[in-house]
Amino acid sequence: MICYAHLYTRLGSAAAFRRCCAPSPPPPLLFCRGKLRMAHSIARATLGLTKPAQIDPLKISFAAKEVDVVEWKGDILAVGVTEKDMGKDDNSKFQNSILKKLDAQLGGLLSEASSEEDFTGKPGQSTVIRLPGIGSKRVGLIGLGQSASRAGDFRSLGESVAAAAKAAQASNVAVVLASSDGLSDESKLTAASAVASGTVLGTFEDNRYRSESKKPVSLKSVDIIGLGTGPELEKKLKYAEHVSSAVIFGRELVNSPANVLTPAVLAEEASKVASMYSDVLSATILDIEKCKELKMGSYLGVAAASANLPHFIHLCYKPPGGSAKIKLALVGKGLTFDSGGYNIKTGPGCLIENMKYDMGGAAAVLGAAKAIGQIKPPGVEVHFIVAACENMISGTGMRPGDIITAANGKTIEVNNTDAEGRLTLADALIYACNQGVDKVIDLATLTGACVVALGPSVAGAFTPSDDLANEVMAASQVSGEKIWRMPLEESYWEMMKSGVADMVNTGGRQGGAITAALFLKQYVDEKVQWMHIDIAGPVWSEKMRSATGFGISTMVEWVLKNSC
Ligand code: BES
Ligand code: MN
Ligand code: ZN
Repeated sequence: MICYAHLYTRLGSAAAFRRCCAPSPPPPLLFCRGKLRMAHSIARATLGLTKPAQIDPLKISFAAKEVDVVEWKGDILAVGVTEKDMGKDDNSKFQNSILKKLDAQLGGLLSEASSEEDFTGKPGQSTVIRLPGIGSKRVGLIGLGQSASRAGDFRSLGESVAAAAKAAQASNVAVVLASSDGLSDESKLTAASAVASGTVLGTFEDNRYRSESKKPVSLKSVDIIGLGTGPELEKKLKYAEHVSSAVIFGRELVNSPANVLTPAVLAEEASKVASMYSDVLSATILDIEKCKELKMGSYLGVAAASANLPHFIHLCYKPPGGSAKIKLALVGKGLTFDSGGYNIKTGPGCLIENMKYDMGGAAAVLGAAKAIGQIKPPGVEVHFIVAACENMISGTGMRPGDIITAANGKTIEVNNTDAEGRLTLADALIYACNQGVDKVIDLATLTGACVVALGPSVAGAFTPSDDLANEVMAASQVSGEKIWRMPLEESYWEMMKSGVADMVNTGGRQGGAITAALFLKQYVDEKVQWMHIDIAGPVWSEKMRSATGFGISTMVEWVLKNSC
């Protein structure tokens, strides 16, 4: 049955919903009809009969300990070593105190084995040696390069620990830095939590779409030695656990193919997050009719060709106790598939087969919501917003040359239907600013041009606000995610002028990531501090053949910086 009634689905507690997001509570009848519409569009999601398996998340427990490395009992004692740590004295003995101690206990075998394996401490190098003589069954040496001081270095260490544990089917592992004396207390906290999240994320495998279950990962517990103990560190480790589970959730969303993860299913997933943490999160899902009422012509233009209906997602976080000194919004591009539309993606290198990841911004935003729902930071209200839809081709679809009208009345000549992300974000940014927020950040797999400029691992950040730039850069230092500030060169707006409408949606080939950002800026309230982060490169890892969950840890860190 097709239902034309307007859908206004709500989840989470009714009180929380009213407090936060709803203009007025919808009558129950509409809610009921809405369910029918949801069921209808979810039914289409079974195309190809694929159903992801429900796999229980892996649980690894972390503990910070101060124990003697020689005494520690378990499967692998993993030592993070820099090239400098591998230095030897005149008698060919290690100078580093931890390596020296282990080597002495092992009768020189560690030194011998590491030379045989050509282990010099280069980044990414690792070797696991089975040596009798100490409490641990094996010693793992993991290279940190010249030096290790940044979060990214420690996250890589955790990832190598995970790989070593997988290969040796270890269940108990300890991690220690050969030299941690030079680290400040603050850096020790960062190091410990980065090692923990690196280990969790390094162990994660997405096997939901395989017909045969793979051997389960054996890792159960990780002891972090020499980086301190106590409540502050325990809190950091707990926090790393929350963020890692959110990153895994984000990766799963992005890895899901477009025949399974339709806009309706993405909205369902968002609603599930809200109901899981319903003490602080509430969800509002706007259907196509509601979006029409709000005059979101730009977003609906993109959605027009698809049989899978658009779903506008709005989660709202209110801190326990209620009062918030600052209001933030995170907006994510949520194209569950981007075919390009009539400007269809053709030819080698267009990556049409990868375009399920065009909702990576949405995954970052919903992942951040999951983490924030668990961490519950005080003093800050956060809106999580995604205009989810699919860019397809059909007789009802948008044509190149069409003129569409966004919710703020601005008109857009669509000179390229493949520049669809900015069209959906325009209405999402207007909606975000209407929530009365002080700051908004959008995350989007927006342009191939940004990947050309910065390569596959670095995101581009665009903002007129130096303050916001500083906040986000500081957050990315802690998360270890690579973000580079790009110029918002106003003079390039010339390329976006239309002969018939207020603007076109694409400029020329030159500066494509910048003109895209300038387009978004048209839809942001001048009073609101705004940043756009183009994650088209880092959303996906070719090496892992998987989504990365990029953006989640930086956004959570940024929200925490705004909390008090
Ligand atoms: N989703 C793409 C951008 C993209 C490309 C993400 C490659 C990840 C990898 C976006 O909708 C798009 O098609 N952008 C066009 C813009 C152009 C038409 C101005 C692009 O980058 O080619
Ligand atoms: Mn596109
Ligand atoms: Zn796109």
